[in-house]
Amino acid sequence: MQGRGLVVFDAYGTLFDVHAAASIHADRVGPDFARMSASWRQKQLEYSWTRSLMRRHADFWTCTQEALDWSMAAFGVSPAGGLRGDLLASYRNLRPYDDAAPALASLRAAGFGLAILSNGTHAMLRDAVTAAGWEEFFTAVLSIDDAGIFKPDPRVYTLVETATGVEPHSTVFVSGNPWDSAGAASAGFRVVRLARVASPPEYMFASRMAEIVSLAKLPALLGCS
Ligand code: LAC
Repeated sequence: MQGRGLVVFDAYGTLFDVHAAASIHADRVGPDFARMSASWRQKQLEYSWTRSLMRRHADFWTCTQEALDWSMAAFGVSPAGGLRGDLLASYRNLRPYDDAAPALASLRAAGFGLAILSNGTHAMLRDAVTAAGWEEFFTAVLSIDDAGIFKPDPRVYTLVETATGVEPHSTVFVSGNPWDSAGAASAGFRVVRLARVASPPEYMFASRMAEIVSLAKLPALLGCS
């Protein structure tokens, strides 16, 4: 299935730009659109973590909607005129980062198996992968739905070996989210931390294999010519 090995990607913030939805509707969201978008993302993650700790799981689409409602209210953005629905629709087909498709194509051409492991629901991930035209790239698109708890719970990361048969120490895990990189490293994966924006070191207790500033660096890092 994967002659050169398996590379697993986080989805949101790694392959797909979570701020694309608010950017597309920036005129209607208003001048605070970037701060509203940052809040939307942070609340979405906060709700995933608090629900996990409280054992009150709801899927990531629910967290996404609840986070948008809070953030629109906090920034005084009116849902009138269908804006809430339009933002959510845009979240279902988020623009991929420009460096994603070329990196995925290079890795596939070099014989790597590719997979996604994401907090997103199966339906969210299907929509995102289909909108990007990436169905052919991935041998597995895995959702935490099948673990019933969010990243970085260790049970989530076991989904990879269960689905692919590839052990964590033989799997490269790529994430743009530091807390997810830490979770994957703690679960035994060989982690490549994607740091698109420079930030101070953190999660130093979870070792990682390498750090890159762009997915464009990944094929060479993994030995593709
Ligand atoms: C993902 C988000 C949390 O799992 O980045 O795709």
